[in-house]
Order: sequence, then structure tokens, then C-alpha cells
Amino acid sequence: MITLGIETSCDDTGVSLYSGGEGILSNVVSSQVDLHANWGGVYPDLAAREHTRNIIPVLDKALKDAGKDLSQIDGIGITVAPGLIVSLVIGTSAAKTLSLITKKPLIPVHHIEAHIFAVFIEKEVPFPFVALVVSGGHTELYLIEGFERYRYLGGTLDDAVGEAYDKVARMLGLGYPGGPVIDRLAKEGREVLKLPRPLLGDKGKNRFNFSFSGLKSAVMRELEKGSYRKEDVARSFQEAVVDVLVGKTVDAVREFGVKNVVVAGGVSANSRLRERFFEAGKGEGFTPHFPPLYLCTDNGAMVSYTAYRRLTETGRTIGLDFEPKARLRMDRFVEMIKRSP
Ligand code: KG4
Ligand code: ZN
Repeated sequence: MITLGIETSCDDTGVSLYSGGEGILSNVVSSQVDLHANWGGVYPDLAAREHTRNIIPVLDKALKDAGKDLSQIDGIGITVAPGLIVSLVIGTSAAKTLSLITKKPLIPVHHIEAHIFAVFIEKEVPFPFVALVVSGGHTELYLIEGFERYRYLGGTLDDAVGEAYDKVARMLGLGYPGGPVIDRLAKEGREVLKLPRPLLGDKGKNRFNFSFSGLKSAVMRELEKGSYRKEDVARSFQEAVVDVLVGKTVDAVREFGVKNVVVAGGVSANSRLRERFFEAGKGEGFTPHFPPLYLCTDNGAMVSYTAYRRLTETGRTIGLDFEPKARLRMDRFVEMIKRSP
């Protein structure tokens, strides 16, 4: 069985074909990073225009790379939420058209779910596990009890962690996206700035929430007060971020007694985050799992794979009148597709 997956939730246009027997057959991503660099972040109108321009050529290349034509596809997977609505509608419209032409089912995929299940392309992780999804648009913690059994634990109250990386990088004049540059510079720096660890150590049922906008402002205040080496700022900022991400995940691991943790999304490429999760895993008795580096940031393969799983495990599909959603939690997405005829 072969599924096609389309991802256009933010600024990357991704299309991939996945085969149950052979794995990823193709994975084409057209990135808009250079285009958005001038803005220091993603500019929605520009992103939508680029998706319109790229979607069909990317689809064509994904089919050619895989050596398949549309008649050989068993289902069309599409990221339906969350993301920039102007971007989501372009992928969704393309997917609906393909579903209509091929008479193959339209399979809904949640963007966060796709990031998490990208890990499974290379290896199975036993359920239940705690999942931390960290990217430019999201910072969320879930308890994953099985496929389509997702319990929301918490998320960011303001900026996503990748967004904080990008904003701090902008303050330092390091360009966009900021994560990889800060990651690299931090290796040469020392932790000289005293920065807060927002919401770390909180108690109660809301303790799995995050907040990064105060941390970003704290960096800005320090930069106004004194002059520091960029490496030291990068190191200080990154240590604060990693302390919070690892600390809250470990709290969830203890609370639910799980033995496995999945860390996914663009920021999961971060070398210090990976190192600290392996250290924490040794001390706490859990195994951390990360997607391979090429599947950390947005791509079509995570969508074609998750769609394959949906088609073969639960067979849930959506109708051609479906509208994508800019905001939708992963647990509510599952409730929604269960109601879908
Ligand atoms: O998952 P992704 O491609 O897009 C969203 O769904 O948002 O994530 C992009 C984010 C950017 O904010 C980028 O700065 C960050 O991931 N990122 C990193 C690293 N590589 C990418 N952040 C920290 N360290 C990295 N090595
Ligand atoms: Zn993403």
C-alpha cells in the first residue's frame, strides 16, 4: 500500500510517497528560508504565494523520484491543522483535487502528530510515552497512550520555543532561522548571563505549561545593560531553554511512570537538547527518541507515514468539504475525525 503526504502548514512545501513494504519512496521539500530571512520570521502572505507556486512542481517531483504515478496511490494524506491558515488551504485544496481525481480517500493528519510519528519511520517506540514537540510554531507536551490516544498535558502560553530562538538570533544579528546558529555558537560560549527558567518548578495541574516570551525579554534587557560576546548570550539563553524543556518533561515522565520519551519538531535537532535528554534518561531510567535530523523540520514524509498508519490502523478519512483549522489541539483533532462520516 502506498500513501502520498502533503505538508504546507507553515513555510515549507513538502510532498512524499510512503510504501508499507519499502518505506519512504520520495521526500521533496521546497524551503522558503531565504525568502523569509529578511523578515526574521515567516511572513504569511509570502508563504502562501510560494506554496501556490511550488505545490504542483513539488508533487510532480515526488511522484517522479518515487517512480510512481497517481493511479498507484492508495490514499492522500494531508496536514489539516494547526498552522497558518493561508498556507494550510493550499495543501488542502491540492489534496482534495487529487482525492477527487484518483477516487482515493483523503486522510487527515495533524501537524504535531506527524512530527511525533516521524520517529517511527526508523523505529517503533513502545506506548505509552511522553512526547515533547518543539518547533517554530509549537511547544507542547503530550502523553501518547497509543495511535490516536493522545492526552494533552500542556503547551506554551505565549511564544513557541523555536520562535524564541529566532527572536534572540535576530537581536544578535544572526539571521533566520536562528536555532541552528545559536546551537553552533553556544558550543563556544559560557553561561555568563543570569536568565530566568520560566514556569520551571511549578506545582499543580497547570505545571506542564511553558512561557518563553519573558525569557526573550530578559535577554533583551541584558543586551541593553551591557555588552556580551554573542557566544555567551547564545550559551546562556540555550541553557535556560534546555533546563525548562528537560525539567518539565522529566516531571511528566515521573508523573505517568513512562519509560520512553519522544522529542520532535524543528528544535529537536538541537545538539544540547539531545545531550541533556540522554543524560536525564540515564538518571531517570527512560530512553529518549529523536527523529533523524532530516525529518526534524517540516517535511512531507512525516505526513505520508502518519497517513499510512491511519489508513492501515483505523481507516479514518475526511470528506471533500473539510476545512483546515489554524488552531486545533491534537486530542481534539482525534475527537473531530472520529465524528467524521
Ligand atoms: O518544525 P519546524 O520546521 O517548523 C514549525 O513547525 O514551526 O521548526 C522550525 C524551527 C525554527 O524556529 C528553527 O529556528 C528551529 O526549528 N530549529 C532549531 C534548530 N534547528 C531548527 N532550534 C534550535 N536548535 C536547532 N539546531
Ligand atoms: Zn513543524
